[in-house]
Amino acid sequence: MDGKTWLKVAIFLCLVAFSTSRELNVKAKNKHHAAIYNHTLATILVEYASAVYVSDLTELFTWTCSRCNDLTKGFQIIELIVDVQRCLQAYVGVAQNLNAIVIAFRGTQESSLQNWIEDLYWKQLDIDYPGVEGAMVRVHHGFYSSYHNTTIRPGVLNAVKRAKELYGDIQIIVTGHSMGGAMAAFCALDLRVHLGCQNISVMTFGQPRIGNAAFASYYSKRVPNTIRVTNGHDIVPHLPPYYRYFPQKTYRHFPREVWLYDLGFGSLVYTVEKVCDNSGEDPSCSRSVSGNSISDHLRYYGVKLACDVSAGCRIVMDNGLAAYRTLDSDGNVIFSRDISSSVLRMNVESSEEGRSV
Ligand SMILES: *[C@@H]1O[C@H](CO)[C@@H](O)[C@H](O)[C@H]1NC(C)=O
Ligand SMILES: *[C@@H]1O[C@H](CO)[C@@H](O)[C@H](O)[C@H]1NC(C)=O
Ligand SMILES: *[C@@H]1O[C@H](CO)[C@@H](O)[C@H](O)[C@H]1NC(C)=O
Repeated sequence: MDGKTWLKVAIFLCLVAFSTSRELNVKAKNKHHAAIYNHTLATILVEYASAVYVSDLTELFTWTCSRCNDLTKGFQIIELIVDVQRCLQAYVGVAQNLNAIVIAFRGTQESSLQNWIEDLYWKQLDIDYPGVEGAMVRVHHGFYSSYHNTTIRPGVLNAVKRAKELYGDIQIIVTGHSMGGAMAAFCALDLRVHLGCQNISVMTFGQPRIGNAAFASYYSKRVPNTIRVTNGHDIVPHLPPYYRYFPQKTYRHFPREVWLYDLGFGSLVYTVEKVCDNSGEDPSCSRSVSGNSISDHLRYYGVKLACDVSAGCRIVMDNGLAAYRTLDSDGNVIFSRDISSSVLRMNVESSEEGRSV
């Protein structure tokens, strides 16, 4: 190695040392709080959040899509819910390797992302979160009703009830990207408050703000085990805006943010994963930079979080799926599978695989 390379390596090592020690400090300071960031789990969950964008419903329902092939292998969908009019998609299933029920929500289509982002700048807190007396707990009406006032909620609750009958009180992990992250948070709160689920964790990617300070505190008391991953200059976590001079009046994030950002230069760039403070609005995390990137919004941990075809809200399915399908009067589709038998099938399949290898 020549002198220059040595210098680069030395600088790189300093950066690594500096950032790891800083992260350790942060972790130690916050050790009393429930939400613990687990990198391995994040890299798994981001694949679930990516797969829910798949528009070929046959590949998705049978978990054979190209995005279903890596760290999420063996996942069994119990219920896949598609709200055709509003272009919403969610699934509930069982991940045996995580020993958990996984619920994932899709975000806005890439083709309408620009408009959606522009709208978010001006969005007011426009609905009281129901069931809370006294405190002005307000949220974003659009996000709230995407989960609560569509075919998504009954589909998800039904699947969770069925899974719990079979598996008992196993962990429930709720995830989603972008608006799907907002829906994931409303879903987790719903499961906690209305279904009495105890064992819920949430990890969202590039999630917008969804409620005011009173909501953030209401939420985090009930779903403390929540990680909100933000990436570089991703614009969406900056929206709708937070005005620190009017902290009670405006939108506010709930904790705990984990901010991914690149450090270094040239060929020596690596990603820091900064575990942020418990305020939800840590000024030294994503708020320390301007939110000006859409491309940072569409890729987390190197995984694409958008549809493959940006041709709007298209769905594809073949007739093989008809046996699992129910349609409601609005044309929404739910694919549902009897899990007690599919669990058996899964075990048979995996042992056959073992033999043929
Ligand atoms: C992180 O998550 C992975 C995957 O669920 C798990 O195997 C591992 O034990 C977890 N690590 C810690 C320190 O909890
Ligand atoms: C739910 O949807 C119905 C019909 O689309 C609408 O009339 C109602 O106002 C909505 N409620 C909320 C709380 O958004
Ligand atoms: C939560 O889920 C984990 C994993 O399934 C399980 O080991 C644990 O007992 C559950 N905890 C509670 C309080 O139900």
